[in-house]
Amino acid sequence: MRIDIITVLPELIKSPFEASILKRAIASNLVEVHFHNLRDYTNDNYKTVDDTQYGGGAGMVMLIEPIDKCISKLKSERDYSEVIYMTPDGETLNQGIANHLSLQKNLIILCGHYKGVDQRVRDMFITKEISIGDYVLSGGELGAAVLCDAVIRLIPGVLGDETSALTDSFQDNLLAPPIYTRPREYKGHKVPELLFSGNFPKIEKWREEQAYERTKTRRPDLLDD
Ligand code: ADE
Repeated sequence: MRIDIITVLPELIKSPFEASILKRAIASNLVEVHFHNLRDYTNDNYKTVDDTQYGGGAGMVMLIEPIDKCISKLKSERDYSEVIYMTPDGETLNQGIANHLSLQKNLIILCGHYKGVDQRVRDMFITKEISIGDYVLSGGELGAAVLCDAVIRLIPGVLGDETSALTDSFQDNLLAPPIYTRPREYKGHKVPELLFSGNFPKIEKWREEQAYERTKTRRPDLLDD
């Protein structure tokens, strides 16, 4: 998979890709991530990427031209499955969207800033708009980092244990069950006895029940779909 991230603040989004699982996924060539600074697609000395709103109103709007130049250059080099715009009014990110995107070959992610982009960018180039939750960030970069993490960890080979992504919370619309490791007892708090029984079918059944109970109390909305 290849991900191209278009941003006015590359320094804000690079670090998550320089540590841990994402770094390893890139080093193993399971994913390529490229950053494109929109200012490199401007023509004027000031490297202008935004302007005031037509019709008046507070806040700057990102110009269509640098975005068009950047997206068009990328599209002339390869085909993209989706051109994603990170925005609080997009579809809320969930595991289903992450699963879908992890199966794609090439993705462009455009990070918004200021008030957002000129509506014509959305009309002309964007195929998917994603929000990471009902709150407003100061730009799309942190949202894009969240999206990339959720997607990249699902690419086969990225997680050491091939099955572990499948047992994540949300993977079957259920939250994950409780988990334990050493010590067996800590300050009077014991690990459930069943987990030492060696009866794996029974342990599996217990985990399923726990996952269901947890979902019912914490996220009953997940059981409705
Ligand atoms: N940009 C600003 N707020 C955002 C959000 N909640 N999700 C994605 N991109 C954003």
